[in-house]
Amino acid sequence: MKRDLITLLDYSSAEVVGLIDSADKLKKQKGKLRTDLKGKSVALVFQKPSNRTRVSFEVGVHQLGGHCLYLGSDEINLGKRESTYDVAKTLSRYVHCIVARVFDNKDIVELAQYADVPVINALCDLYHPCQALADIQTIREQFGKFKGLTLAYVGDGNNVFHSLMIACAKVGINVRFAGPRGYDPNAWIVEEAKKIAKKNNCTIELGRDAKEAVKGAHVIYSDVWVSMGQEKETAQRVKEFKGYQINEDLVKTAHKDYIFMHCLPAHRGLEVTAGIIDGKHSVVFDQAENRLHAQKAVLLKLLAK
Ligand code: CP
Ligand code: NVA
Repeated sequence: MKRDLITLLDYSSAEVVGLIDSADKLKKQKGKLRTDLKGKSVALVFQKPSNRTRVSFEVGVHQLGGHCLYLGSDEINLGKRESTYDVAKTLSRYVHCIVARVFDNKDIVELAQYADVPVINALCDLYHPCQALADIQTIREQFGKFKGLTLAYVGDGNNVFHSLMIACAKVGINVRFAGPRGYDPNAWIVEEAKKIAKKNNCTIELGRDAKEAVKGAHVIYSDVWVSMGQEKETAQRVKEFKGYQINEDLVKTAHKDYIFMHCLPAHRGLEVTAGIIDGKHSVVFDQAENRLHAQKAVLLKLLAK
């Protein structure tokens, strides 16, 4: 049976750790050309712009010996030019895997349901699993472990936070969230993550106070206040998220060896100051690099014989 990656909720803790172990091994190979995906094609169906996700998938598939096709929103206008069902069925006759970045989670779930080949979620409104895998790979690289660490996420309870919270729960990292009222993470996803966290002896805590969240934290994480597709809400969001900037004052009480993480793209002066994102605790480009290794690990798991 084919396997998809829509959300890390569908993967066991052992599988998540296995992917990170594989990503670490691939990283050590430094992009050496392999033949695992020889003769295989991967379609990248993107309804939104991308730098990291698109480039790391294209380069990753190439390094594994396969071939990629990028299909932007002008080519495959998912659900508008033709139905998601027809797109899924047609692409399945040409390619061996579909990587899709969509607006609505429903669209990626439908793609996976109808496609005869593995579907990988390259970001939707609810999840960004490939990002979360690269994130926890980066965390283990920095601290040499998962267990006993605390991650503080400050800002919007969005797609990136959902997947990060699930990934942390799977591997035993404590999570503290702080954000303004009205921007909490999805309650159902929080409940699912809490159940997983309990099994792995870690905690998920939600609050409003950024200072409380950051106190003693090993990892401080932020994402944009305005996600793709929310541009009309920019003025309102910038106002409401004002107290949730990662800045020099906020990080004072963090663990002395804390790392700063951000999935990028970032906005210096909004969710994070330039001093922090460009400072010595920042690992944002390691995170970006690890997208390549983590996604190659996913491609090997789902596609290689
Ligand atoms: N972090 C991330 O997914 O970046 P892109 O939107 O540039 O792919
Ligand atoms: N939350 C952001 C992440 C971008 C990688 C967005 O959805 O736009």
